[in-house]
Amino acid sequence: MTTLVPSSTTQSLAASLAAAGVGSLTTPTYDRFADGETLAAVPEFDDDHAIIVASTVDNDAHIELLQLQDAVREAGASDVTTVIPYLGYGRQDTAFKAGQPISARAVARAISTGTDRVVLVDPHEPSVADFFDVPTRIVSAAGLLAEPLGDLDDPLFVAPDAGAIELAETTRDAYGSGETDYFEKERDYDTGEVELTPSDAAVAGRDIVVVDDIIATGGTMSGAIAVLNDRGAGRVFAVCVHPVLAGAARTKLAAAGVERLIGTDTIERPISDVSVAPAVADALDTK
Ligand code: R5P
Repeated sequence: MTTLVPSSTTQSLAASLAAAGVGSLTTPTYDRFADGETLAAVPEFDDDHAIIVASTVDNDAHIELLQLQDAVREAGASDVTTVIPYLGYGRQDTAFKAGQPISARAVARAISTGTDRVVLVDPHEPSVADFFDVPTRIVSAAGLLAEPLGDLDDPLFVAPDAGAIELAETTRDAYGSGETDYFEKERDYDTGEVELTPSDAAVAGRDIVVVDDIIATGGTMSGAIAVLNDRGAGRVFAVCVHPVLAGAARTKLAAAGVERLIGTDTIERPISDVSVAPAVADALDTK
């Protein structure tokens, strides 16, 4: 049997995985000392296999994951699977300037020391899987994003940059009809400003679904929505796998005129209407 170990950031998804029969939940404790250090602990259990489910949404979450990995061995597990629905630092997958770290590689190496295998959900670049020193699988949740869309009028599924085309196509395929298109995107890495160049696709009066892997500051998605609305689009839906929604992202999207914002439970947010549990459960079934 398997014990499921949720991190403090990923409790809803872990509960959905338990409901799907992946394992039985244990209840860790998540404490913090006066000096700011954290202490995550797991009660002893009888199962040999532990599955830790932990989105590393911030620096504390990274430390918490390392602690949970160590704790489950202390608690009795001899085999550990680490599910990372959202891999923080995943976008730092290269050294952009001399002297910079490849942060995704650094965190992957640290995580690899405490686990026998890793499961990732739609990392920003699939190649980050190669940074782990243990077998690492990638689960795609893009097909699940179509579920809450309802009836769309002559839909167009748009990727806000070339890197998200496959996600847009997968979401369109899951929806069952519609065209796909993408914007050219340039980001100024000093200012964070994003410049989007639309294609010539007809958008007037149509329902548009903009599909991306991550909405972080909301700069990319709100830019896309604004351009589409300027060109007379009907309703514009924004869907993503990982709703980071940092700072004023939610407001930027509302101001740009989004009809509805949809994300998954890789990160727990009020708009996490889609659970990736079915896709993760399938991957764990064939570990
Ligand atoms: C970048 O290539 C990603 O696919 C997302 O478009 C990006 O991470 C979104 O970031 P932000 O919301 O800050 O524009």
